[in-house]
Amino acid sequence: MEIKQLIETLYKEHILKKEEFLFLLEHRNEESRSMLASLARTQTDKIYGKSVFPRGLIEFTNYCKNNCYYCGIRGANQNAVRYRLSKDQILSACENGFHLGYRSFVLQGGEDPFFDDEHMCDIVSEIRHRYPECAITLSLGERSKESYEKLFKSGADRYLLRHETACPDLYKKLHPESMSLEHRKQCLWNLKEIGYVVGTGFMVGAPYQTLENLVDDLLFIEKLQPEMVGIGPFVPHHDTIFKDEPAGTVELTTYLISILRLMNPHFLLPATTALGTIDPRGREKGIEAGANVVMPNLSPVAVRKDYSLYDNKICTGEEAAECAGCLGRRMNSVGAFLDFCRGDYR
Ligand code: 5AD
Ligand code: FES
Repeated sequence: MEIKQLIETLYKEHILKKEEFLFLLEHRNEESRSMLASLARTQTDKIYGKSVFPRGLIEFTNYCKNNCYYCGIRGANQNAVRYRLSKDQILSACENGFHLGYRSFVLQGGEDPFFDDEHMCDIVSEIRHRYPECAITLSLGERSKESYEKLFKSGADRYLLRHETACPDLYKKLHPESMSLEHRKQCLWNLKEIGYVVGTGFMVGAPYQTLENLVDDLLFIEKLQPEMVGIGPFVPHHDTIFKDEPAGTVELTTYLISILRLMNPHFLLPATTALGTIDPRGREKGIEAGANVVMPNLSPVAVRKDYSLYDNKICTGEEAAECAGCLGRRMNSVGAFLDFCRGDYR
């Protein structure tokens, strides 16, 4: 196999065989990296130009009934300082975001039973009523199909639920018995069936993860055909069993962003906060590799440090009160710009 040949095939046909993807990952080098990134950027520019779409992220609860072993806000972590934003606080975060120019909001939280359907639908319909022209994205984890339906009817249009890993064995090593990959996948299929614009994704460099596992992630994404794919490096959190594990790398994460871009030039691909955490220019590097979304934080500054999925998360200090300005300059530094629209899938 010739790596340049494989990249050309991927560029033209948008898919490779399992063993070809594996070869592309195993034999990656400086040349394949720059070839992939430049083709990925070409494809991004064709569909979206130099626009990078900002999504105003509101992390509204860090209570969580789950216990994903890698996550700092997993329910069993007694050291996490818990908070919930009130409906009014969530609405003010939206109002603040709207005035800053945002037309796309993401409500993200742990799996917090307090926010049952009644509560959530009330909040979503109020945001929908106040901002009819804005996209409302939810990221609330696994819920019943009925619940997803109700939220959709209340006005939510997009849903983010990373599958985390498409390999059942690895899934088991990263999650407790009470959670299953099958259920998670079923949630994703349900969301699609209801009509949500769906985002999935996975961590790069998670403990025990192999390159084969990452190929399975790519193949699962090919099957699911989501509109968005969020990938970021695993970053250890000091209160988890994986505290001494190494973080994922910018190099492999951006390589996978480029591969995803070639698989579907239309994908909405975020340069994630985790990527910005392991490298001060991580998000910029993500954009250069073909990403076209960023998710600046709109949560009240006082709670930001408590939404601590992993250590050293950026944008949590006083200086981050206004991420939009900071990110705008960062995007400009790589020839892109923040495009304050809904940022729909084209
Ligand atoms: N490192 C990187 N990403 C993490 N997430 C949770 N914990 C970590 C960690 N330690 C990611 C998961 C989840 C998303 C909200 O954050 O992929 O889906
Ligand atoms: Fe948040 Fe720079 S983007 S501080």
